[in-house]
Amino acid sequence: MFDSKTRTVVVVGAQWGDEGKGNLVDVVAERADWVVRYQGGANAGHTVHIGDDSFVLHQIPSGILHGGVRCAIGNGVVLDPETLFTEIDELVKDGIDVEGRLYVSDRAHLVMPYHKLVDKESHSSKAIGTTGRGIGPAYEDKAGRRGVRVIDLKHPDRLRPLVERGCEYANLRLAQYGSDKRADADYTMGKMVEVADRLIALSQDLGVVMHRAIARGASILLEGAQGSLLDVDHGTYPFVTSSSTTVGGAATGSGVPPMALHAALGIVKAYTTRVGNGPLPTELDETLGTRIRELGNEFGATTGRPRRCGWFDAVVVRYASRVNGLTGLAVTKLDVLDTIDRIALCTGYRVGDEVRSEFPADITALDDLEPVYEWMDGWRTSTADARSIADLPVAARRYLERIEALVETPIRYVSVGTRRDQIIDASIGR
Ligand code: GDP
Ligand code: IMO
Ligand code: MG
Repeated sequence: MFDSKTRTVVVVGAQWGDEGKGNLVDVVAERADWVVRYQGGANAGHTVHIGDDSFVLHQIPSGILHGGVRCAIGNGVVLDPETLFTEIDELVKDGIDVEGRLYVSDRAHLVMPYHKLVDKESHSSKAIGTTGRGIGPAYEDKAGRRGVRVIDLKHPDRLRPLVERGCEYANLRLAQYGSDKRADADYTMGKMVEVADRLIALSQDLGVVMHRAIARGASILLEGAQGSLLDVDHGTYPFVTSSSTTVGGAATGSGVPPMALHAALGIVKAYTTRVGNGPLPTELDETLGTRIRELGNEFGATTGRPRRCGWFDAVVVRYASRVNGLTGLAVTKLDVLDTIDRIALCTGYRVGDEVRSEFPADITALDDLEPVYEWMDGWRTSTADARSIADLPVAARRYLERIEALVETPIRYVSVGTRRDQIIDASIGR
């Protein structure tokens, strides 16, 4: 992805999350100097397979698994210190060197214990099917201007009143939900004191660090979490997460100026999945849905919940391509479809006599829309050993060409398994 002109690349999910961003970041990071998370928090679960080992990263950028890459958690992330340090300690135990390579923006907001409590007790979180990681309540406090930032840990005198205010607000909400649980300022302060020194040691004015890295010509990969259809503005509102998951968020969430973003790689599965509630227009029936779930091992990397499965929805991905300005696509998990006889692509939504090709703002409209499918023959042979596009069966190549045409975005990578060598560079040999 990186060349003399392309120094800053955003990797973004172009469906409802879990598209395989972790694996792709791992491969692209090989040539990166920096990998930076810019939004979301420990709701993410990015899986990376290296040899026989697999790592699921929630809070730390997936680039950490490459020894020479520096990693950072941007200001747009809501940072859960508990998860961060558990993850660092596990990586170190697995022989990954983290020290001196991981930085945290001093402007990042913290996920406090009471945010997780509120997320778990809230009725609306249950209706959306959140991950329960405190993400929504932390972003609410940020927008409500009562959040706690990394920088505040340096000033215990300022921290105490912020924590008291946060607890007070959380307790109002817990009471409203009819919960008997309560946030406690002393307990919360205790937790913050436990992590403060360690977190302060990692903290940096990340905007300045990024500015200097860009000036030196460093290659920077911005690692998105969740997916475009979970974006708080562009997603299936209100069944979304609380951050800007799309490319715009990469600039505001990292301090890298928008004009310094050179490429955007959208990750999509060769089909569609969604975990949690909300619309999924191409959702499969129970029998085929269960089959794809088993073939693709579609269970959440963060919560273990079964993922809902559907056919590839070209309306969704074309929309994501437009909103993100995608310069390329990575199609993952092609191998999962290896045994399927006939495969459908959704090309539009029918309502009465009309076929719509744009994703609607009003998700209730989706109830009356029927996906229009184009059926294609499956390839019914294993793709796992393909190392170039030319190695793929003709029917699989045709399927990919159709995706490319419908989404109006060139395919840059195709992955046919979880290993690093199973990610095909589609720009070679076509
Ligand atoms: P992320 O959140 O976008 O990083 O994706 P997740 O890690 O939550 O989910 C993707 C899952 O699919 C992980 O278990 C990956 O190991 C797996 N995966 C990624 N690419 C492929 C692929 O090409 N083939 C198969 N079979 N599995 C894949
Ligand atoms: P990665 O980065 C898939 C979903 C939740 C829920 C909604 C809101 O691994 O792709 P939240 O806890 O964020 O308030 O939940 O968003 N969700 C994800 N779905 N992959 C993710 O992350 C997700 N992060 C959140 O299931 O529907
Ligand atoms: Mg995931």
